[in-house]
Amino acid sequence: MTQDELKQAVAQAALEYILPKLDKDSVIGIGTGSTANFFIDALAEHKDLFDGAVSSSKATEDRLKDHGIPVYDLNSVGSFEFYIDGADETNERLELIKGGGAALTREKIVAACAKEFICIADESKMVPMLGQFPLPVEVIPMARSFVAREIVKLGGDPVYREGVITDNGGVILDVHNLKIASPMELEEKINQITGVITNGLFALRPADVLMLGTSTGVNTLK
Ligand code: 5RP
Repeated sequence: MTQDELKQAVAQAALEYILPKLDKDSVIGIGTGSTANFFIDALAEHKDLFDGAVSSSKATEDRLKDHGIPVYDLNSVGSFEFYIDGADETNERLELIKGGGAALTREKIVAACAKEFICIADESKMVPMLGQFPLPVEVIPMARSFVAREIVKLGGDPVYREGVITDNGGVILDVHNLKIASPMELEEKINQITGVITNGLFALRPADVLMLGTSTGVNTLK
């Protein structure tokens, strides 16, 4: 199977997992990226079964609206049952690196509001230790060089993602060469650097369910 077929398979598995639990008032939190896009396209066929969605990015909002799915402001909905999103890396504890699509801050906010975070990913995303994928850090633009210097002190090699401005007006530093043995600790440390908006480690609030697409089928980890 191709990587896209694996992504489609996990999107379908997530859909089948949530569909029986939806009702007319349900609002669904939706992530960003190609795997989330497969999920949105599959979900659209069932749009009469739920109320609408909360989006983690402008790109996802546009795709949802193109399908005729209502998109709500997070402030108007409070908490909700499900958040479905992809990941750039996961370990077996369902701690993640996210933000390859620069949507990490809104993804983290929407995930925080959900009772259950269902991560959908192809098997290439599973690693023994997080950090092979450069860790995205969203930063206030004027703090970029300061934050980069502080990250070097933590042992990382930050690279400015040129030409990218996030939905929040931030910029992204991709931090290379981190071996992340203690994801929760590093998530907290980076968040404490002045000028950091958020970082792409999802360890303090990891996924609750991981649906991993493999050549032999979808493996569900909890
Ligand atoms: C965007 C993300 C995505 O979930 C992550 O980059 C995975 O993307 P894809 O589903 O395209 O492999 O964190 O900020």
